[in-house]
Amino acid sequence: MTDCQGDEEGGMSPMELYEKLNAQGDQVRSLKSAKAEKAEIDAAIQLLLKLKVNYKQMTGQDYKAGCPPSENLIVSNNGPTADGSDGEDVVDPWNVSASSAKGVDYDKLIVRFGSSKIDKELLDRIEKASGQRPHHFLRRGIFFSHRDMHQILDAYEKHKSFYLYTGRGPSSEAMHVGHLIPFIFTKWLQDAFDIPLVIQMTDDEKYLWKDLTLEECHRFTVENAKDIIACGFDVKKTFIFSDLDYMGASPEFYRNVVKTQKHVTFNQVKGIFGFTDSDCIGKISFPAIQAAPSFSSSFPQIFGGKKDVPCLIPCAIDQDPYFRMTRDVAPRIGLLKPALMHSTFFPALQGAQTKMSASDPNSSIFLTDTPKQIKNKINKHAFSGGKDTVEEHRKYGGNTEVDVSFLYLTFFLEDDEKLEKIREDYTSGALLTGELKKILIETLQPMIAQHQERRKQVTDEIVQQFMTPRPLNFKF
Ligand code: TRP
Repeated sequence: MTDCQGDEEGGMSPMELYEKLNAQGDQVRSLKSAKAEKAEIDAAIQLLLKLKVNYKQMTGQDYKAGCPPSENLIVSNNGPTADGSDGEDVVDPWNVSASSAKGVDYDKLIVRFGSSKIDKELLDRIEKASGQRPHHFLRRGIFFSHRDMHQILDAYEKHKSFYLYTGRGPSSEAMHVGHLIPFIFTKWLQDAFDIPLVIQMTDDEKYLWKDLTLEECHRFTVENAKDIIACGFDVKKTFIFSDLDYMGASPEFYRNVVKTQKHVTFNQVKGIFGFTDSDCIGKISFPAIQAAPSFSSSFPQIFGGKKDVPCLIPCAIDQDPYFRMTRDVAPRIGLLKPALMHSTFFPALQGAQTKMSASDPNSSIFLTDTPKQIKNKINKHAFSGGKDTVEEHRKYGGNTEVDVSFLYLTFFLEDDEKLEKIREDYTSGALLTGELKKILIETLQPMIAQHQERRKQVTDEIVQQFMTPRPLNFKF
């Protein structure tokens, strides 16, 4: 059976993987008894953990030495987090919760998902290839994980270009600052590499998952598209589409959906997404629709029927399950696997244990908030890593790792030196929580006011231009 485990073990049978696990367990034990170097033992344990995760994903069973996989494979329906081996962090397209106040352990997630860390070497390559200093989201580890970025850059250096694909599920009119993160970064990539971009608005997904009418979802697509356009995308290089409109209008897109549907079983999507027998069939086949824009042949008006333009998807890490599935299917339908860059989550005001939620107004700063609302929300709700009294704070200092105001500044304060100074002063106790919050308020108020100003300029005609299938302006 083929499932969506890490890439190297992709072709193995459960029995082969079981045997590889046995051997790796032996390896760890012998390194330990030989008192090998810690780094070497750690690396062996990391690999063991990764194999265990893959084994669980493939078989639905926990690996136990001496218990080979049973014939009757039942794929776990708890989604990609069901490894049972570490922490209680839950990360899937519908839930994010961390067991620690510092938030999700992203290093563990890289191991669990089988992706790669965005390291200094990759940043240097991005800088060299694009001629741009890496965006602060890259420098600060906000985009922290990737798949196949080296292949994308190898090709780019040989003058073979690529395109960007990202998306948004339009579940309400109200977008919050966290929703902008992938778009701000995608805009930077578009400018740095000078490449086309497609943005999928999954109004169909939101209709299937939420208690909303089709008309509402479609209206949210248009409203959200205005906020996305306000991030500054170039209309000559950007195609935004509603699934509800484009699926029916593009035979090539639908053909890729159907090819994907043929190559993924119900058992597999149960394992990846946790669907159950009582989920509607629309949900069960939806992942094929989120997969299709990863293939350049879905957009003949842009790529002139080319099947081999590589795709890079910037997204929050919770979307990875869709693209693990896509990457698993791609070679089997003769298409390229998309590359990915993953971001951490934007924390809720209440703390990094969970991400912002549009349904809890006090957990988020909305793009429609007034300066006064921004100030009140931060002062009232932003979780503080400071001490209870000024005396204690001056004496012991605050904790920037859990302080939401500081975390938000890592997203939005571009000046590295200023940020570092704030970190030092808060940690030493020189800077008080109220003062830190004031810096954040004064960073966000103008940023959001400017966004609102730009959004006002986005007329329905401009949205229409972005959403019209048409050739884009670029050369390959
Ligand atoms: N499923 C995503 C959401 O609910 C929307 C989406 C579709 C997406 N395609 C994407 C997000 C590609 C990132 C990248 O928001």
